[in-house]
Amino acid sequence: MLYATSLTLCLILTIDPSTSTTASPITVSVDPTSSPIAQTSSTSFGCLALDWWPASKCDYDWCPWAGSSFLELDLDNKVLKKAIGFLAPNDSSIFLRLGGSLCDFVRYDFPGSHYDECRDFSDPTNTTRVGYELGSGCLRTDRWDQLNGFCSDIPGCTLIFGINALIGRTNSTCDADTNCHWESNDHPCCTEWSGNWNSSNTEALLRYTKTQDYSIYAFEFGNELIGESGIQAKLDADTYSTDFCVLKNLINDVWSGEETKPKVVGPDNNYSGDDQWYRDFTSLTFEKCGGPDVVTWHQYLLGAGVDSAADEKSRDPNVLDKQIKNGEGIKAAVYENTPEGETPPEIWMGEAGGAYNSGRPGVTDAFTSSFWYLDGFGILSENNEQTFCRQTLVGGNYGLLENTDEKNPNPDFFALALWQNLMGQDVMEVTRSDDGEDRNFRVYSHRSEEQLTFLLINLNNETSYEVELQAEGMERFKDFTVTAEGLSSQTIYLNGVELGLNGEGDFPNIMEMGVDAEGGSITIQPLTYGFYTFN
Ligand SMILES: *[C@@H]1O[C@H](CO)[C@@H](O)[C@H](O)[C@H]1NC(C)=O
Ligand SMILES: *[C@@H]1O[C@H](CO)[C@@H](O)[C@H](O)[C@H]1NC(C)=O
Ligand SMILES: *[C@@H]1O[C@H](CO)[C@@H](O)[C@H](O)[C@H]1NC(C)=O
Ligand SMILES: *[C@@H]1O[C@H](CO)[C@@H](O)[C@H](O)[C@H]1NC(C)=O
Ligand SMILES: *[C@@H]1O[C@H](CO)[C@@H](O)[C@H](O)[C@H]1NC(C)=O
Ligand SMILES: *[C@@H]1O[C@H](CO)[C@@H](O)[C@H](O)[C@H]1NC(C)=O
Repeated sequence: MLYATSLTLCLILTIDPSTSTTASPITVSVDPTSSPIAQTSSTSFGCLALDWWPASKCDYDWCPWAGSSFLELDLDNKVLKKAIGFLAPNDSSIFLRLGGSLCDFVRYDFPGSHYDECRDFSDPTNTTRVGYELGSGCLRTDRWDQLNGFCSDIPGCTLIFGINALIGRTNSTCDADTNCHWESNDHPCCTEWSGNWNSSNTEALLRYTKTQDYSIYAFEFGNELIGESGIQAKLDADTYSTDFCVLKNLINDVWSGEETKPKVVGPDNNYSGDDQWYRDFTSLTFEKCGGPDVVTWHQYLLGAGVDSAADEKSRDPNVLDKQIKNGEGIKAAVYENTPEGETPPEIWMGEAGGAYNSGRPGVTDAFTSSFWYLDGFGILSENNEQTFCRQTLVGGNYGLLENTDEKNPNPDFFALALWQNLMGQDVMEVTRSDDGEDRNFRVYSHRSEEQLTFLLINLNNETSYEVELQAEGMERFKDFTVTAEGLSSQTIYLNGVELGLNGEGDFPNIMEMGVDAEGGSITIQPLTYGFYTFN
C-alpha cells in the first residue's frame, strides 16, 4: 500500500509508450493442486560464484578483476556480507561457489601437503590455454580459515569449492614459441594430458577441513577439462570418471562415520551437445563408485564478451530457447544412464555469466541481462535443474555486485533476490491460451507452502501483453513489476520505486514493496518482467 501511490506517480517504462502496441489477450493458468513437474534444490536454487582470477586477468583491454579474487577480496566489507545474506531470505540458504578455470592450476599449502613451492599466480603467459603458468597460485591455510569464517558468519551461506583435477597428470610439451593462449585449436599439444590425478595435495586440504569441522556442501572436480569443449584439457569420460571416484572415495574416507559429508560434483564443463561424454560419465561413475552427487554444466549463452551482439542476444527468444534443447539434452543423458533402482544425480547450472571472457559492460551488468538470466531460471528448472550458479557475485563485468568498495548491486542482483523470495521449490506446469506460440512472451510458475507465483517476461520491444492469470481456488495477492529507464541501465525500479542501497549500506525490504493486486488482467509492458503472487 505504502508504495502504491509512487507507482502511479512515476511509472517508468523502458521504451516510449507511443510506439507500443498490444497483443491479443493471453490467458495463463496453473492448477495449484496438481503435482509439480519438477523441484528445485531444497537448499537453494540461487548460487553465487567467486573466482580465482587475479587483477592481471584482462580481456579485450578490460581488466575487471582487481581485488575480486576470493584470495584477495575484502571479507570485512559490510555490503558483501549483507548482500549474501539478503539472497538467503527467511532462514533459507544460498550457495557460494569458489572456483573457476584457475582451480586446476593452484596448489594447497596445508599441513602434510608435500609441496615446498606454493607461489602466487604468474604473470599472464601465452604458454597455456588459460593464460597463467601451471602450478602457480596458492591457497594457504589462513585464507581457507578466513573464507570458512566469513561464510559461517552469514546465515544461510553454504560453500562449494572446486578441486584441482589436473595435478599429477603430465601435459604434452609444445615448441617454445607456441601461443597456446590464443591458438590452442591449432596446437593439440596445448591441451593434451596423460596419466592420472594425484590426490595427495587435495587430501591435505580435505583432512585439514575435517579437523576444523568446516562445513563444505560440495567439492567440484576440476573446471572445464573434459571432452571436445574442454579448455585446458580434453579428458575422456573413462579417465575423468576414474579420478572422480578417487575423490569421492577419499571424501568418504576422510568423513567416514559422519552423517553428512561433502557431495562430489562434476564435470563443470561447457555443454556443446556432446551427449555421449555425459552418457559415459554417468554410467561409468555409477559403475565405479555409485554415481556423481551432482552433474554440472556451464553456459555462456550470449557468446564472447567482445561481441556487441551479446546485447540483443540477451533478449532474443531464439537464443534463449537454446536452453530448452540443452536442458533436455543433459537431462536425457543423465537420467537415461542412471541404473535402474538408483536415484538420478541432481543437475545444476554450474556456471553461467551470460558472455564469456569476463562478460560485457553495459550488458551483463545491466537491466538487459535479467532477461536471459531469469528466463534461464524458468526454462532450466522446468528441465529438472536444481540450482543455477551465477558467474559472478563480484568480479568481471558480470558481477551481481559492482567491483568497487561500495559494492552497489546491479539489476541481476535484485532479479535473483526476487526469485529467491518468491519462486518456491515446486515447478508448476503452465497452460497458455496461445499454446506458447508467441516466444516473446514467457511465463513460469513455482509454488511454495506460502504461495504460488507467476514470473512474466516480455521480450518484445514494442508490444504489450494483456495477461489474465488463473490459479483455481486462489486469489492474486501481490504484484512485483520491474522496469528500467533503458536496457543498458544499471538502475531498476520495483513497482516504480528505485532499488538500491540506502545511506547505511542496507538493502531495501523488497517483500514489503509488493503492491496489492487489483484483480483483472495484467498489462506487461515491452521489455519488462514481473512476479505475481497468489495465495
Ligand atoms: C517467511 O517466513 C514466514 C514464517 O514462516 C512466513 O509467514 C512468510 O510468508 C515467509 N515469507 C516468504 C517470502 O517466504
Ligand atoms: C600473447 O599473445 C598475444 C597475441 O599474439 C600478444 O599480443 C601478447 O603480447 C602475448 N602476451 C604475452 C604475455 O606474451
Ligand atoms: C606443460 O607443463 C610445463 C611444466 O609445468 C609448463 O611449463 C608448460 O607451460 C605446460 N605446457 C602447456 C601447453 O600447458
Ligand atoms: C603424488 O604427489 C606427491 C607429492 O608430490 C608425491 O609424494 C607422491 O609420490 C605422488 N603419488 C603418486 C602415486 O605419484
Ligand atoms: C559451448 O557450447 C555451445 C553449444 O551449447 C557452443 O556453441 C560453443 O561453441 C561452445 N563453446 C566452447 C568454448 O566450446
Ligand atoms: C525493436 O527492435 C527491432 C529489431 O531489433 C528494431 O528494428 C526496432 O526499431 C525496435 N523498436 C523500438 C521501439 O525500439
